[in-house]
Amino acid sequence: MVSRRGVLAGAGAVSVLVVGGVVWRASDKGVFSIGQGPAYEPWQTWRTDAAEGPLALVRAGILAASPHNTQPWLFQVSEQAVALYADTRRHLGSFDPFLREMHIGLGCALENMILAATANGYLAQISYAGGMLGPIPEAPEPHLVARIGLAPGETQPDALYEAIPRRHTNRGPYERDRPVPGDALEAMARMGNDDIRLLLFTSEAQRSRFAAVVVAATEAIVADPQMVSDSQRWFRSTREQVAKHRDGPTLDAAGLSPLVTALAKVLPPPSAEQGHRLWLEATRDVHVATAPAFGFLAVRNLNDRAHALRAGRLWQRLHLYATTRDLAMHPINQPVELVDRERHLDRAPEAARRLAALTESSAWQPTFAFRMGYPVRDAALSPRRALADVVL
Ligand SMILES: Cc1cc2nc3c(=O)[nH]c(=O)nc-3n(C[C@H](O)[C@H](O)[C@H](O)COP(=O)(O)O)c2cc1C
Repeated sequence: MVSRRGVLAGAGAVSVLVVGGVVWRASDKGVFSIGQGPAYEPWQTWRTDAAEGPLALVRAGILAASPHNTQPWLFQVSEQAVALYADTRRHLGSFDPFLREMHIGLGCALENMILAATANGYLAQISYAGGMLGPIPEAPEPHLVARIGLAPGETQPDALYEAIPRRHTNRGPYERDRPVPGDALEAMARMGNDDIRLLLFTSEAQRSRFAAVVVAATEAIVADPQMVSDSQRWFRSTREQVAKHRDGPTLDAAGLSPLVTALAKVLPPPSAEQGHRLWLEATRDVHVATAPAFGFLAVRNLNDRAHALRAGRLWQRLHLYATTRDLAMHPINQPVELVDRERHLDRAPEAARRLAALTESSAWQPTFAFRMGYPVRDAALSPRRALADVVL
């Protein structure tokens, strides 16, 4: 006869085995190694000694934001200049049919490089490639978008430069009832210029109109199989994929709670449709529901290449400034992605009309939408490709 004590001991052993198995599986799936491994090293090694010369700019540049973490950049480095090329192979298809977002991401890299230039004792001068944005080339080739000319200058301390490794897109909940301080909003609005304007939405009424536009755009995207599949192509949902590609959105950076992140890693990845439906739910229930402030970066011409690059520079600068103020930021660009999608498909410009009604302007066109606020949780690092993969 098996004693009660024997049964309990057996059950205990099974529990230990089960728990042990889960822990092993969790560890195998990267539950305990968030932000670790070669894909995350560029965040630690970015500030190298000045003897490296202009390569220091590239190390800062690759830590910039980019759409879907596509890192669509290539750099050519000499003693006198760093040339920035668009790697048009790294596109988002129907999510960005005119490479507008790609150029905003390239502008983000430019801003980090300009900050690094001054911090490393260079006087930097940017020249932008002009012209209009066009469709994704059939045979993509790197093309020059900007050149940073370098001359000896004075090294200057800069809080935005220091914030580069602490800036991360935060997709988690924010403290809804804690407003963004007025002086921070004013400082941000002053960073706009003649080409790019910052439009802020902070009152309850403004926010609910903004939120409705974002949710409606997300619903339209989730119902568009081409957009879902083009977006899905960049998702890296396993540890192996992150280690191999070192790009794309990851589970760690999705803004989920630690428990849900751990569960999501242990369970099989959702299908593209399920994943994007969850994104719609998070947009509605977390992203827009908890934000005390929203904003647009607006330009006079959505298709002007230099304006897109300059909008990217401004976004990176705003996000770095927010970081110095312990504020979180998160692009929520679905409404503008839909404008491009409708134009590409020659559909009636409904999304553009909705945006014009929201901003009460047709002279300034939103090219970038975001939310900001005090975060409930810290954001995780996102992976970056190695320098060797991006320097020509
Ligand atoms: C042009 C552009 C558009 C973006 N759009 C979105 C978006 O709609 N939703 C989102 O969650 N993140 C968006 N992002 C943020 C990127 O996904 C993010 O920068 C990238 O994953 C790298 O992560 P990091 O910013 O934390 O370094 C966008 C970034 C850029 C530059």
